[in-house]
Amino acid sequence: MTGFDSSLPIGAAQIDGAGPRPLTTTVTSLDAIPTAAALDPGAEHGYFGELSAVLIPAQALQAKIADLAKAVAADHTFDTPPLLICVLKGAVMFLTDFARALPIPSELEFMAVTSYGSATTSSGVVRILKDLDRDITGRRVVIVEDIIDSGLTLSWLLRNLATRGPAAIDVVALLRKPEAIKVEVDVRYIGFDIPTDFVVGYGLDYSERYRDLPFVGLLGEHMYR
Ligand code: PRP
Repeated sequence: MTGFDSSLPIGAAQIDGAGPRPLTTTVTSLDAIPTAAALDPGAEHGYFGELSAVLIPAQALQAKIADLAKAVAADHTFDTPPLLICVLKGAVMFLTDFARALPIPSELEFMAVTSYGSATTSSGVVRILKDLDRDITGRRVVIVEDIIDSGLTLSWLLRNLATRGPAAIDVVALLRKPEAIKVEVDVRYIGFDIPTDFVVGYGLDYSERYRDLPFVGLLGEHMYR
């Protein structure tokens, strides 16, 4: 894993001695910190023996969120604050940390959607469970997503929100699984490209569990096979 140095001053186009530092960090399975019997990462949160590894530690998530927030703020120097649209439930942890890391004012909206499909794959057929509470006509909106897997949810959401007349739509996604993408979506701000492993934590669930973990971990195969 590279790029965890949060001491550098700016977000998207950081210039250091080695040139611009990319905003997106690529994480591979080799970066996962395996669970040792004596150090079970889930145990502290009541999940005993359920995770096989920590993929992205809490500190690395927070450092990345600070970088993403700076990058988004640098591109949103307008009088009207951006409207952050949190896609529930998975993005709730990211939204709250991201909004607090943003060095500019923002407004918050929540939307809940679900895709029909199995527990581990999405179908692209999306249903709105909770819609926005207000009109977004003329607003600059930033969709805050926890993960882009197939891209089907985001692709649908972008089309749906575009029909409501916003001034602009940007997307900030904490995680993306490039090998799982079925629909290419134009996303400007992405935190981590991750492998297709079964990830949980920091908002991501398996049957509603693990959302409360402060890090992104790998679910032990024995938990879902
Ligand atoms: C997850 C995640 C994204 C979507 C990504 O939501 O929060 O919204 O799946 O998958 P895709 O790129 O393959 O469409 P989910 O439907 O699991 O609901 P949740 O956020 O409530 O867990």
